[in-house]
Amino acid sequence: MPRPCFLLAIALFSAVSTSATTNNATRVRSVSLGGWLVIEKWIKPSLFDGIVEPDLLDGTLVTFKSLVLGTYVTAANGGGSDVTANGTSASDWQTFKLWRVSSTLFQFRVSNNQFISAPDSSVSATVDSPGQSETFEISRNGGLVMLRAPNGMYLQANESSRLTADYNGTLGWSSDNPAVFNMTVNTVLGGEFQLANGYDKEDAQTVFKKHRESFITQDDFKFLAANAINNVRIPIGWWIAYDPEPPFPFVSGSLEALDNAFTWAENTGISVLVDLHAAPGSQSQWQHCGTRDGVSEWAKANTSYISDTLSVIEFLTSRYASHSAFFGIELLNEPTQQHVPLDVLRNYYVAGYSRVRKYSSSCFVIICQLIGANPSILVDFMAPSDGYTNVALDVHWYNLFENRFVNTTAQWNIDYILNQRNSDLQKLNNANGPLILVGEWTNEWDVQGATMSDYRNFGAAQLKVFGNASLGWSYWGLKSKDLHWDFERTVEKGLLTRQSNGQWP
Ligand SMILES: *[C@@H]1O[C@H](CO)[C@@H](O)[C@H](O)[C@H]1NC(C)=O
Ligand SMILES: *[C@@H]1O[C@H](CO)[C@@H](O)[C@H](O)[C@H]1NC(C)=O
Ligand SMILES: *[C@@H]1O[C@H](CO)[C@@H](O)[C@H](O)[C@H]1NC(C)=O
Ligand SMILES: *[C@@H]1O[C@H](CO)[C@@H](O)[C@H](O)[C@H]1NC(C)=O
Ligand SMILES: *[C@@H]1O[C@H](CO)[C@@H](O)[C@H](O)[C@H]1NC(C)=O
Ligand SMILES: *[C@@H]1O[C@H](CO)[C@@H](O)[C@H](O)[C@H]1NC(C)=O
Ligand SMILES: *[C@@H]1O[C@H](CO)[C@@H](O)[C@H](O)[C@H]1NC(C)=O
Ligand SMILES: *[C@@H]1O[C@H](CO)[C@@H](O)[C@H](O)[C@H]1NC(C)=O
Repeated sequence: MPRPCFLLAIALFSAVSTSATTNNATRVRSVSLGGWLVIEKWIKPSLFDGIVEPDLLDGTLVTFKSLVLGTYVTAANGGGSDVTANGTSASDWQTFKLWRVSSTLFQFRVSNNQFISAPDSSVSATVDSPGQSETFEISRNGGLVMLRAPNGMYLQANESSRLTADYNGTLGWSSDNPAVFNMTVNTVLGGEFQLANGYDKEDAQTVFKKHRESFITQDDFKFLAANAINNVRIPIGWWIAYDPEPPFPFVSGSLEALDNAFTWAENTGISVLVDLHAAPGSQSQWQHCGTRDGVSEWAKANTSYISDTLSVIEFLTSRYASHSAFFGIELLNEPTQQHVPLDVLRNYYVAGYSRVRKYSSSCFVIICQLIGANPSILVDFMAPSDGYTNVALDVHWYNLFENRFVNTTAQWNIDYILNQRNSDLQKLNNANGPLILVGEWTNEWDVQGATMSDYRNFGAAQLKVFGNASLGWSYWGLKSKDLHWDFERTVEKGLLTRQSNGQWP
């Protein structure tokens, strides 16, 4: 239900002007609490340690090469017809995305996104949503597998153009068994979905509860406050709006954890930017959007994903709008150009802004750049001159993930920050559009053999330049198994340092 809106709830930030410039005192010096309420395996791999068949998670890519024929199981044309056994190389049509039913039962999604089906002894890829006839049992013997079809028989490839579910399983693992395949496994995803569905339900609840209670605590907020950090950006997933009964396979409790964060924030004078990191239908192919298998359908026509996302935004804003620690909400993290058309994104941002303004006339509404496109395509969008207030464009600036950063030197990277990034930022800052938030950056790079002093100089350059962003910056992240992605340890080791006045540049 809508709650009354409290116009000036945010004392700390109430002085922020609606123009594209703001004074230094109001700029956010923020850290993103990555890997807490939206899981990313690389941040804390140990979460996955108790999973049985840990390489066969949702979204894992597999191929099957017949030992007898030496060719690959293939969904011809990517799906829509029979599945054959005559693929000569392991390409798209030969690569299947796993849906995990249990540690032994799986469904296989072909490149056009239908599922492999064996309703009788024939095998095809024509079904859009999987059920009993699409569920296969994998038996493993080292890298070799047999696949038991729903009819109890095994898939076999004994003629090059046919794959049939009619082998009765008497030859064992011998190399002339037409039911034995060499399976390659590429475990690409380790996100919230993979963790939640990797365990059985009870174990998943235990793992998530422990993680949510221990990964971030009030002590972390005290650390941040003592280090002149005035904001946290908290990635959350859409399932939070359905607590305490989130849909399969998500585990309840993230809402309570977010409530706790608001309390800790209030206690330590820190404000909270709620960041919708994972949207229903998935706005990207990446694990951090909560995807099951890397298929992004958030922007797909005639689905309810966008209206469901707006309901999540409305739920979160109505819940926190009157909280003294509420800074604002980021409508969507890292939509990709590959999957989300710019006009769809713009319409969503405008609709999201209206939903937020039903509950708060002053909180920040953060729109994220379209990943893969130049952030400048959104710089004149939702400008103050068009009547939008307290909107900021979030740009993510890593010296990583692109070829141009590979095999570069420390000095090259530092110069890139001081020149290219600085010039890009000044243009965005000065465009009379929304405010600018450098909402993700970190002190890691692609430089090999960098010294601690190189890292220190890189950190100093980034702080100097990003400190000029009109709304400020948010470091990614607070904790990680990797030192340079871990704000706490990076600060403790003196790799990021404040000015002599105790403030960040
Ligand atoms: C903001 O900070 C910069 C660098 O720290 C400083 O040069 C500038 O004068 C400050 N601006 C205001 C309005 O305080
Ligand atoms: C393939 O296997 C089926 C059933 O096991 C058998 O009837 C058929 O003759 C085999 N075909 C070839 C070419 O071996
Ligand atoms: C595989 O078999 C299918 C069905 O018979 C056929 O259409 C296709 O051309 C074959 N592909 C190759 C690479 O031989
Ligand atoms: C399995 O198939 C083999 C060869 O096709 C046949 O000899 C055997 O009797 C079958 N066994 C069963 C249990 O059907
Ligand atoms: C399975 O394939 C891998 C490479 O894809 C190869 O290294 C391995 O030897 C194969 N195993 C068998 C039993 O053929
Ligand atoms: C979406 O639905 C409308 C109305 O039912 C229909 O005309 C249109 O073709 C559909 N678009 C897609 C991409 O399915
Ligand atoms: C980086 O250097 C390695 C080793 O010298 C080389 O193999 C690789 O191709 C280089 N990558 C790029 C993108 O330049
Ligand atoms: C940041 O802005 C301040 C004030 O506008 C300016 O003096 C300073 O040179 C800027 N920093 C950089 C790295 O451009």
